Amino acid sequence: MHTGTTLTQFIIEEQRHIAGATGDFTALLNDLVTAVKVISNAVNKGALIGVMGALESQNVQGETQKKLDVITNDIMIRTNEWAGHLAGMASEEMDEVYAIPNKYPLGKYLLVFDPLDGSSNVDINISVGTIFSILRAPVPNRAASEADFLQPGVKQVCAGYALYGSSTMLVLTTGHGVNGFTLDREVGEFLLTHPDMKIPADTKEFAINASNQRFWEPPVQRYVEECLQGKEGPRGRDFNMRWVASMVAEVHRILTRGGIFMYPRDTKDPSKPGKLRLMYEANPMSFIVEQAGGMASTGYERILDMQPESLHQRVPVILGSKNEVEVVVGYHRQG
Ligand code: AHG
Ligand code: MN
Ligand code: MN
Repeated sequence: MHTGTTLTQFIIEEQRHIAGATGDFTALLNDLVTAVKVISNAVNKGALIGVMGALESQNVQGETQKKLDVITNDIMIRTNEWAGHLAGMASEEMDEVYAIPNKYPLGKYLLVFDPLDGSSNVDINISVGTIFSILRAPVPNRAASEADFLQPGVKQVCAGYALYGSSTMLVLTTGHGVNGFTLDREVGEFLLTHPDMKIPADTKEFAINASNQRFWEPPVQRYVEECLQGKEGPRGRDFNMRWVASMVAEVHRILTRGGIFMYPRDTKDPSKPGKLRLMYEANPMSFIVEQAGGMASTGYERILDMQPESLHQRVPVILGSKNEVEVVVGYHRQG
């Protein structure tokens, strides 16, 4: 039985250290937590409540939407739009910025999210997640435009993810380290179970979708080839490989026991410089990874420094254990 710090208590205690804090942010996070609990319930019940399977529709990325992509997007909107903390929302599942309805007050924050990450795993009962990023609205209490959202990742006020795995967890950072909370379903609260999470600097575990190998650039080809050569190769040690196809699950594994995750630039589709999206996948995860002592790069530059050009922009992602990411970045530097 765990009777430690609840997430609400943790956030309120953090807020006390911030001069001039109004409690707005705490209240916003509370609503987000409610959304995550509702999503966890829907994902967990699955076929019992008829939420599995695909729809006819496609999202702005041209991906076929799952029923749960749409349901979870709706849960995020309905739970977060009413309280007056937000000036706008943006999501993987909506082409344009979501304007807060006129009947509700506007606030000083922007919320960006991937309501269901890894949704190809939903029908086969493998872990999925929700990723979110909170930014400050450049002009508070005014309906936000797309341009207002296009802030580099270093400007994030908070980033987090929920992992719907064998237990439901919420992991978040406000720029003072990373903390993990586990949902106690009977109590209905998230409890602090993983304080001050740190990514080991070294690792022997890598994650990449190897079916794309022929499209990778030379630095990634070299890195993976050297890992595969193991003890007999230039790295002088054996590596292990994992690929869940849910970024949330991969990042959580890396936060727990180290590792490197790569969805690198490839030549598969020249219009897409990577698969993952900057605003609601790469940026929040990079913020968390850096706050846990890891590193996140495109191979060529720090992800958090990138100036976003559009809401659904894709970027190459290489993140995780610092020393290992440095090796891959070094190979990019050498060309
Ligand atoms: P989403 O379900 O939100 O579209 O994201 C899926 C992403 C990411 O979670 C995962 O790492 C990657 O796509 C999986 O890609 P492959 O299908 O190429 O394995
Ligand atoms: Mn995703
Ligand atoms: Mn998604």
